[in-house]
Amino acid sequence: MKRKFCIAGNWKMNFTEMEAIHFAENLKEELKDIKHDLLVAPSFICIPGVKDVLENSNIKLASQNMSNQESGAYTGEISPLMLKGMVEYVILGHSERRMLYKESDEFINEKVQLALKHSFKVILCIGETLNERENKTLWDVIKKQLQKGLLSVSAKSMENLIIAYEPVWAIGTGKTASPQDAEEVHAFIRENLKTTYSKEVSDKTIILYGGSVKPSNATELMAMENIDGALIGGASLKLEDFAAIARFDK
Ligand code: PGA
Repeated sequence: MKRKFCIAGNWKMNFTEMEAIHFAENLKEELKDIKHDLLVAPSFICIPGVKDVLENSNIKLASQNMSNQESGAYTGEISPLMLKGMVEYVILGHSERRMLYKESDEFINEKVQLALKHSFKVILCIGETLNERENKTLWDVIKKQLQKGLLSVSAKSMENLIIAYEPVWAIGTGKTASPQDAEEVHAFIRENLKTTYSKEVSDKTIILYGGSVKPSNATELMAMENIDGALIGGASLKLEDFAAIARFDK
């Protein structure tokens, strides 16, 4: 089954507005010939400036988070109504949101549903901690994050849903899951989607790998059957590294 291939850069809390604009200008030039899906997720405040630069380019925009509410007294939050027209994708459930800001599966599911309601494409991040991998609860954890995160999401809406498997122990640590370990979890996710939805949904859903992806390990990871691209943090901040990974195709 030929699925769309996608390379996404999550800039996290990096780059000032000018830095983000400058970086986006270079990225646009560097990646102008790439045919598969490319996207970057700047901080909220940098989105308008980066959007101007990337207008009419092959690089799309994502936000790194989104509120579970449309408006009201939610200090520091950003509404889907504010993101509308600004970004096409929203990243939800990133492990940094789960761990540092205590976002639960239920809370993330509210955001997933709201984002889909507002016609965003959602990148739902899931992944186990080192402890969960070592004590072999990883399969239960992945299953629970998937089931709870996708609660009330219809098979039709799954067309707008990307899953990012990001083992927490591999994020920003320099440690990467081996291609075989990553593939095993990706296949498990696909199997779960088949049980919950259908073979068609499972075959079509894009599943990205994230966690210390860099040019030196990207090729092997991306070559695995069930890995359809990458969600990249650290290496997405270096033009040459991100471009090298983005040039890989299947
Ligand atoms: P990393 O981050 O590539 O720096 O490990 C990945 C992510 O958090 O999406």
